[in-house]
Amino acid sequence: MIIPFQGMVPKIGSRVFVPDNALILGDVTLGEDVSIWFNCVIRGDVNWIQIGDRTNIQDMSCIHVTNAKHPTRLGSDCSIAHNVMLHGCSLGNGVLVGMSSTIMDGAILGEGCLVAAGSLVREGFKAPPHSLIAGWPAEVKGPLSQGQQELVASIPARYLRYKEAYFKDGWPMAQAPDHPQPQGGFAEGHPYP
Ligand SMILES: CC(C)(COP(=O)(O)OP(=O)(O)OC[C@H]1O[C@@H](n2cnc3c(N)ncnc32)[C@H](O)[C@@H]1OP(=O)(O)O)[C@@H](O)C(=O)NCCC(=O)NCCS
Repeated sequence: MIIPFQGMVPKIGSRVFVPDNALILGDVTLGEDVSIWFNCVIRGDVNWIQIGDRTNIQDMSCIHVTNAKHPTRLGSDCSIAHNVMLHGCSLGNGVLVGMSSTIMDGAILGEGCLVAAGSLVREGFKAPPHSLIAGWPAEVKGPLSQGQQELVASIPARYLRYKEAYFKDGWPMAQAPDHPQPQGGFAEGHPYP
């Protein structure tokens, strides 16, 4: 379901996969060839969310923002595994966030990082490119091994194939809805009054 909110309409690139039971709302931009999987929630109501080309967001993940303070930005070729919470953070290109991890407001992860499954990345955490980040709370363990780099690089291509298989099976490509009339009166502090 792709729906406007308070006059803000999601922008959707070409060949994007969004099943009906995923929610994309408000000021959300999805690049080309993005795939959003079943039961995800991407709620751009009180700040913006940008998701780069070929990024995949796997089932049950949730992406939100903090009003007027922390938008969420994901680069291209990122993989967000199942049941991840991303809140007000910024990820460079080619980042893999492992299953059931949480990344909090103001965290900035450089290009090609790997967040191990089940990690908690605290507010304002910073990691240099190509780092392994792991733990609860998470710390930088060091540069990725060859095997870890191969894992990170392999998943976006796999998910491009998966969403094309769904299109072949008759699932529709996502379309942006028509622009509604803006409505005033959003909550105090809204960045787009
Ligand atoms: C990180 C991961 C890739 C393991 O890589 P690995 O090369 O086998 O890593 P190692 O077992 O050598 O561990 C390296 C360090 O990270 C720690 N670590 C690894 N996985 C961890 C996890 N999930 N949580 C906390 N710490 C973890 C290890 O304890 C070790 O720490 P140390 O250096 O202080 O001893 C794997 O645990 C993982 O999280 N994969 C992501 C799976 C996923 O979500 N895939 C997407 C599905 S499409």
